Amino acid sequence: MNILITGGTGLIGKRLSSLLIEKGHTVSVLSRSKKQTDKVKHYTWDIANQKIEEEAIKQADIIIHLAGANVGEGRWTSKRRKEIIDSRVESGNLLFNSIKKHNPNLKAFITSSAIGYYGMVNSDNVFEESDSAGSDFLAEVCVKWEEVANQFTELNCRVIKVRTGVVLDKNDGALAKLLTPIKLGIGSALGSGKQAMPWIHLEDICGIYIHLIENESISGIFNGVAPAKDNNKEFSKTVADVLKKPFWFPAVPAFALKLLMGEQAVIALKGSHISSKKIEASGYKFKFPKLKEALTSLLK
Ligand SMILES: NC(=O)c1ccc[n+]([C@@H]2O[C@H](COP(=O)([O-])OP(=O)(O)OC[C@H]3O[C@@H](n4cnc5c(N)ncnc54)[C@H](OP(=O)(O)O)[C@@H]3O)[C@@H](O)[C@H]2O)c1
Repeated sequence: MNILITGGTGLIGKRLSSLLIEKGHTVSVLSRSKKQTDKVKHYTWDIANQKIEEEAIKQADIIIHLAGANVGEGRWTSKRRKEIIDSRVESGNLLFNSIKKHNPNLKAFITSSAIGYYGMVNSDNVFEESDSAGSDFLAEVCVKWEEVANQFTELNCRVIKVRTGVVLDKNDGALAKLLTPIKLGIGSALGSGKQAMPWIHLEDICGIYIHLIENESISGIFNGVAPAKDNNKEFSKTVADVLKKPFWFPAVPAFALKLLMGEQAVIALKGSHISSKKIEASGYKFKFPKLKEALTSLLK
C-alpha cells in the first residue's frame, strides 16, 4: 500500500513510518518543510494558503492524518488556540478537497483525535467511544478535528478516528518531560494525584494504526489507550520505582500549576479513565497492557 502520513515527522509518525516500511508498505510524509530521507518521500503543503503537492495525494491508498500544533506547548492564547484548531481542521479540509479532486480510489482516511474529546474532567465514568463530547477547549478541538474526517465518508472510503491517550516514549512527549525531576529525585504527584492518566506505549499506538490499516472491514471511532487504569500519582511513582529513585516529595499544588500554565494546567490536573474494550474487541492485542512493563521496556 502507498501510505501518506501528515505530520509524519513527529513522535508517532516517525516510528509508524519505520514499522510500515518494515512491513513492505511505501510511506510518504506530508510536512510544512522539505526534508530528504532515504526511505520516506517528503511532500510539502502550505495549509494557510490551501496549497499541497498534488503528487502526494494522487498516489495515496491510505492517509493517516497526524498533523497538528502540539497542545502541550505554548500558552493557550487566542492566537495559539486558533493555531491548534486550524492545524488540524484547515489541513483536513485541504486534504478532503484535494482527494475529491485528484484521488477517487482512496481506501481509508485515518485521523488522530484525542481522549480530550470527552473533556478534561475528574469523574468516575470510564469513557467509551459512544459517550458524548466534553465542553472545554480540548473537547472543542477534538470535535472539530473529527468533523473534518466525517466529510470523507462522502468519498466511499473507510473513515477511522483514533482518540489517543498520552503516548509513552523515552525521548519525546509527556514521559520525557516527567523524567527530569524524577531522575533528580524530586518527582512528585500533580495536584491531588488522583486524576486518571490514560496512557499508551508508542509501540501500541503504532500497532493500532497498523491493525486498522490491515483489517479492511474496520471503520469508526476507537480509543487509543492501554487497558491499565492508573492515576497521576501511581504513574509517577511507577516511573520512580522503575528508575530506582525516591518518591516522597509533596505533590505540586494545583494552584501553582495553574499560575504557571494557565488554563492548560487541566492537561496535568484533570483526567478520567478511558476504555480500551472496543479496540481489543476488534482483535488488537496490546504489547504493553500494564504500566510497569511499558515503562520498563522504555527506561531500562
Ligand atoms: N503524543 C501524544 O501523547 C498524543 C496524544 C493524543 C493525541 N496526539 C495527537 O496525535 C498526533 C500526532 O502526535 P505526535 O505526538 O506524533 O505529534 P508531534 O510529535 O507534535 O508531531 C506532529 C506533527 O504535526 C506537524 N505540525 C506541528 N505544528 C503544526 C502546525 N501548526 N500546522 C501543521 N502541522 C503542524 C509537524 O510536522 P511538520 O513540521 O513536518 O509539518 C509535527 O511533526 C497529533 O495531532 C497529536 O495531537 C498525540
